[in-house]
Amino acid sequence: MSNAHAGSPRPLSARRIAALAGRVRPPGDKSISHRAMILGLLSAGETRVTGLLEGDDVLRTAAACRALGALIERTGEGAWTVRGVGIGGLRSPAEVLDFGNAGTGSRLMMGVVGGHDVTASFDGDASLRKRPMRRILDPLALMGAEILSQAEGGRCPVTIRGAADPNPITYRTPVASAQIKSAVLLAALNAPGETTVIETEASRDHTEKMLSYFGASVTVTPEGEHGRRIVLKGRPELAPRPIVVPVDPSSAAFPIVAALIVPNSEIVVEAMMMNPLRIGLLTTLREMGADIEELDRRVEGGEEVADLRVRSSVLKGVDVPADRAPSMIDEYPVLAVAAAFAKGETRMRGLQELRVKESDRLQAVADGLAANGVDHAIEGDDLIVRGGGGRAAGGGTVATHLDHRIAMSFLVMGCASDKPVTVDDDRMIATSFPSFGPLMAGLGADFA
Ligand code: S3P
Repeated sequence: MSNAHAGSPRPLSARRIAALAGRVRPPGDKSISHRAMILGLLSAGETRVTGLLEGDDVLRTAAACRALGALIERTGEGAWTVRGVGIGGLRSPAEVLDFGNAGTGSRLMMGVVGGHDVTASFDGDASLRKRPMRRILDPLALMGAEILSQAEGGRCPVTIRGAADPNPITYRTPVASAQIKSAVLLAALNAPGETTVIETEASRDHTEKMLSYFGASVTVTPEGEHGRRIVLKGRPELAPRPIVVPVDPSSAAFPIVAALIVPNSEIVVEAMMMNPLRIGLLTTLREMGADIEELDRRVEGGEEVADLRVRSSVLKGVDVPADRAPSMIDEYPVLAVAAAFAKGETRMRGLQELRVKESDRLQAVADGLAANGVDHAIEGDDLIVRGGGGRAAGGGTVATHLDHRIAMSFLVMGCASDKPVTVDDDRMIATSFPSFGPLMAGLGADFA
């Protein structure tokens, strides 16, 4: 098993460059890659996956699926087969399931275990051990799972004895979170009856889409102004279907913002997933004046994708509404970098969920901006960045707190800032975007 942070921290610096140019295809979507492994485990037969993100987080999920009974093989670059055991066919793993840095993998798998007659322990790195798990354990307990042990405050390490016959429930998620929604739906696969999840703000819908693609009965209807009601019929026969993983918009965000802020740049990002619940960043960047052109919108593997031509742009500050957060939740760190180069003030509203990501991202972004001479403030749950109109000082070292997206965001900043930007550790980048360094270097970035 790879380990994204074995050994000692490895600092990396980015220095200013004259231009970025070229075509790139960022790696497969992390959310879909986790789900491909998990639905492969839960269907009887062989699921073939292409374009899988081979990052540490997903490899941890694959290892957990193996421990629960799946046979998983890598047949080529990004090409994997999963021979599953089917709903109800899991076995209790002999060892603790070590999810490393992976919040999504651990939480979704808690759902799987919570709805099966198995017992499993979940653990991870120092970052994962800080993340709240009660939001997952609470609905699982309602469904009949027993939480045999947990660290203080509902944190990992956690041991769950799943329910052999989980209760179908109606559950309103307390925060807009695809992880909570997905954990309940995955547990509900083994429940004899209909389970309903209600969300007030729609979150990414990959679990629902993939479940219906595999033959489950899932109905989705609007709920209130921005929400959804998802109803799943338990105990379906999941039939394996081929999965083509589209490019991760949360990874594509880094070269996109880099091309916008480095003068004289023009790049093409190929085949980016355009699922409307994932592209809040594009909406925001366009409001800021970004020159981003869609070249060829098409459907690949059940998702809309497009090639995007991105050119350096004069950006202006904007007000980003709180209800956009679910569709760009992982992109705020790199949006803050774009905002640092914009003219005027950008206010990002309603960022409370950023405090419980791989790090306290609200604070980590603010500290990174401070270290690099960018005028900013945190007001309640809002982040305000006052941009330098095409310039940022740089020159600072950023504490990444085991957070891949903090590392990549500030390396992007260094591509355009007056002085180089250093991140204290780049190893965690391998959790979601192992090819980040070579891909950016191929466009002209100078990291050393
Ligand atoms: C994810 C959901 C989001 C996101 C995470 C991936 C998923 O978390 O931040 O990186 O794949 O379901 P929340 O659902 O908790 O907001």
